[in-house]
Amino acid sequence: MNKILVSLLLTLGITGLAHAAGDATAGQSKAAVCGACHGPDGNSAAPNFPKLAGQGERYLQKQIHDIKEGRRTVLEMTGILDNMSEQDIADIAAYFASQKMSVGAADPALVKRGEELFRGGKLEDGMPACTGCHSPNGAGIAAAGFPHLGGQHATYIAKQLTDFREGNRTNDGDAKIMRMIAAKLSNKDIAAVSSYVQGLH
Ligand code: HEC
Ligand code: HEC
Repeated sequence: MNKILVSLLLTLGITGLAHAAGDATAGQSKAAVCGACHGPDGNSAAPNFPKLAGQGERYLQKQIHDIKEGRRTVLEMTGILDNMSEQDIADIAAYFASQKMSVGAADPALVKRGEELFRGGKLEDGMPACTGCHSPNGAGIAAAGFPHLGGQHATYIAKQLTDFREGNRTNDGDAKIMRMIAAKLSNKDIAAVSSYVQGLH
């Protein structure tokens, strides 16, 4: 592991789990309202709606709280979470985490550059590889809250990387890891790495 990555990991402070325990079975019916956009099993059809299937429970809980409390803006979800309790959120996160994320395909024209970035980073610019936190197969590190990326829609991934870069998504914590990483990515880099991620499994 390179030095940049180790220091980033240390600033993230990988400590104990702080989330409530969820019940996936109870979560299935509570998640019905989410299915219209995210797909009944969390595999959404539209590329701007993220897949939630197989996403880490800790990451899901964090994002749902961030969206509910306004730290992350998702206009499409306005009001949907208002009446959800801590237990509802935990159960829904457990349900989607228990499903399997489907995998798409990478654009053959972009896959080589995408793989270079994902596996090698841009060390000359101080940007570590994505694999250190999101793992070589894109599964992420669920216990640390590092999200699963493999198979996610390229359109969604590209929007997130752009949002991190432009300061429109700032809920990545005080360490600003993803904002620092995205700052090093050009539009071409974002297109390539997002396409690569869509086909990764
Ligand atoms: C009307 C459509 C819609 C509905 C209904 C909806 N969402 Fe979303 N959701 C979105 C969109 C669009 C985004 C991505 C916004 C962006 O680009 O940042 C999102 C993002 C998310 C994310 C972040 C995913 C990630 O990978 O970071 C989570 C978690 C989430 N939604 C959970 C839910 C839950 C739980 C429900 C049901 C209680 C729900 N959503 C209902 C449209 C919807
Ligand atoms: C040092 C660890 C680290 C590295 C390296 C890293 N990430 Fe991340 N990434 C994170 C964390 C932590 C989050 C979750 C931020 C949050 O909690 O909102 C994240 C979130 C994301 C998201 C949002 C996922 C979603 O579902 O909305 C994308 C996309 C992403 N990273 C892509 C990348 C790419 C591409 C690279 C390599 C160029 C990379 N990351 C390198 C830690 C890292």
